[in-house]
Amino acid sequence: MTPATAYAHTNIALVKYWGKRKGAIAGLNLPATGSLSLTLDRFGTETRIEPADADDFVLGSQPVSPGEAAKVFAFLDRVRALAGSTARVRVTSRNDVPTAAGLASSASAFAALAVAATRAFGVSLDERALSQLARQGSGSAARSIFGGFVLLHRGARDDGADCFAEPLPSTLPVNLVVVRCGEGKKDTGSTDGMDHTAATSPYFRAWVDTHAADLDEARRALAGGDLPRLGEVMEHSTLKMHATTLAARPGFFYFQPTTIAVLQAVRALRAAGTPCWATMDAGPHVKVLCAPAVAGAVAAALQAIGGVRGVEVAAPGPAARVLA
Ligand code: PMV
Repeated sequence: MTPATAYAHTNIALVKYWGKRKGAIAGLNLPATGSLSLTLDRFGTETRIEPADADDFVLGSQPVSPGEAAKVFAFLDRVRALAGSTARVRVTSRNDVPTAAGLASSASAFAALAVAATRAFGVSLDERALSQLARQGSGSAARSIFGGFVLLHRGARDDGADCFAEPLPSTLPVNLVVVRCGEGKKDTGSTDGMDHTAATSPYFRAWVDTHAADLDEARRALAGGDLPRLGEVMEHSTLKMHATTLAARPGFFYFQPTTIAVLQAVRALRAAGTPCWATMDAGPHVKVLCAPAVAGAVAAALQAIGGVRGVEVAAPGPAARVLA
């Protein structure tokens, strides 16, 4: 194997993935729903892979839990199996996002790992196959292989062959205003949260049953350049996802007081004539979709809310890539 370094950007789902598909082959990590996302030009992960005597994972200056390291090593095993190699490696990653704080660091992490590891082990995969490999590390990572708007197909096959990501070319100008509403690790990681929800929430079935319609509507809105329609269905998808967690047993939620204040402010901005729509993932932060022309005003209004730790304006970003 040869040393290789890759960079992947974070993506944020506009129509969410939440829940794994039942009956699928273990380890393939197949989603219960498709999803539609935007890869951002800010936030991401750089990952370098080098030969080593034993597998090792170093994450910047942050401590790595045994569980996190095990996930990375299991992912390397998949790539080694494709390459027919037993070579051990050191993986060094640097996150430009707070790890596990709900800013989707697993998406950029496993996309960067997929690109770096396949390059290092000399495994040649097209982007679709790379997205399928990245998905096995984290569902959202499949989407970070591509830039801009991206669709992750749910697929129906047990072997995952029809569950892959692809870009949705669009000229719709958008920004995503990322509003940090807390710090530190989230209480309930996305996999635990979605598994508990799928097992206990009576709303989970309704979530799955209505999901394809949301995805269709978002795709049509994107194709028609209809930002208000895209924003409206995006907000519907996120509130519906979070409703499934409230109805789980025991119920749980990712909202913090600042999160609620920001969600209310987004509604107030809209009522006052500034078109913008909110989405949230498995953490307290809020991401606000709007046209670039109003992003500065949206960011300034949300920055002024008590408890907000920071506001960044992101634009559509590029695909994951090998660094020279
Ligand atoms: O792929 P994971 O395990 O990071 O789960 C992603 C789940 C959400 O961020 C809440 C939604 C999504 O589609 O990204």
